[in-house]
Amino acid sequence: MGKVIAVSGKGGVGKTILAALLIRKLIKTGHRSILAIDADPDSNLPDMLGVSVGRSLGDIREELLAKQSQFPPEYSKDVWLESKVLEIMAETPSFDVLVMGRPEGPGCYCAVNHMLRSIIDFLTRSYDYTVIDAEAGLEHLSRRTTQGVDDMIVVTDPSLHGFNTAERIKNLAKELGMEFKHLYLVVNRVSCEKLISEKVGSIEVEFAGVIPEDVNVAEYNLVGKSLLELPEDSPAVKAVDEITEKIRLI
Ligand SMILES: Nc1ncnc2c1ncn2[C@@H]1O[C@H](COP(=O)(O)OP(=O)(O)OP(=O)(O)O)[C@@H](O)[C@H]1O
Ligand SMILES: [Mg+2]
Repeated sequence: MGKVIAVSGKGGVGKTILAALLIRKLIKTGHRSILAIDADPDSNLPDMLGVSVGRSLGDIREELLAKQSQFPPEYSKDVWLESKVLEIMAETPSFDVLVMGRPEGPGCYCAVNHMLRSIIDFLTRSYDYTVIDAEAGLEHLSRRTTQGVDDMIVVTDPSLHGFNTAERIKNLAKELGMEFKHLYLVVNRVSCEKLISEKVGSIEVEFAGVIPEDVNVAEYNLVGKSLLELPEDSPAVKAVDEITEKIRLI
């Protein structure tokens, strides 16, 4: 049974860089059975991983809704969806990438979403590690995109709003009956660690560590270079290595 790790938090705090650097750490430690799921409608995890993805789960959901009336009655929609999911998955020698794409429009999506949910559950069971880059805010909890997640890492910038989002994620997950094995907090773009340690002590989540501002990350993202190519001694890479070791994530 594989481990499912999700990265969440408010918009623009560094969710995608952390997801990409976790995948980098997994590859570096020799893992080759890794699924990256980009669950942000404004998808950019593939870019940060240097992978190009053509179609999303949202696209095939639309295709199914448009075509299903033409399917013969004995034709299984689950089998059709499953084969399409495998078809749209981007594969590399060390990891695969699946993009969820845009959220549903006004049609009736419950049955299709239910099928997609089961396919994702099935897929995550067949990888050693699944890393989900969740959409910003709390919506992923009510959409249940992050159902079945073992470890939830909430990223925040050093702002009160970011810390509040972390607490809200924790409380809403509890209300919805979603039990994570661990709920961690990572503070990104930190310049003064002392201030942060005072603040993290006041909220009830496991503090995993901080990521400093890293000029290489800024530069790589500006020119569209994969974060998998960052130098080993880049401050954000070193910080994520330390975080994963400290919390024994991998
Ligand atoms: N530690 C860091 N050092 C330098 N730049 C950073 C760092 N963390 C994030 N950034 C920059 O901040 C921007 C936002 O980061 P990122 O895309 O990872 O955030 P996000 O939470 O995924 O955003 P969104 O909610 O839009 O998906 C990026 O341009 C990234 O280069
Ligand atoms: Mg993002």
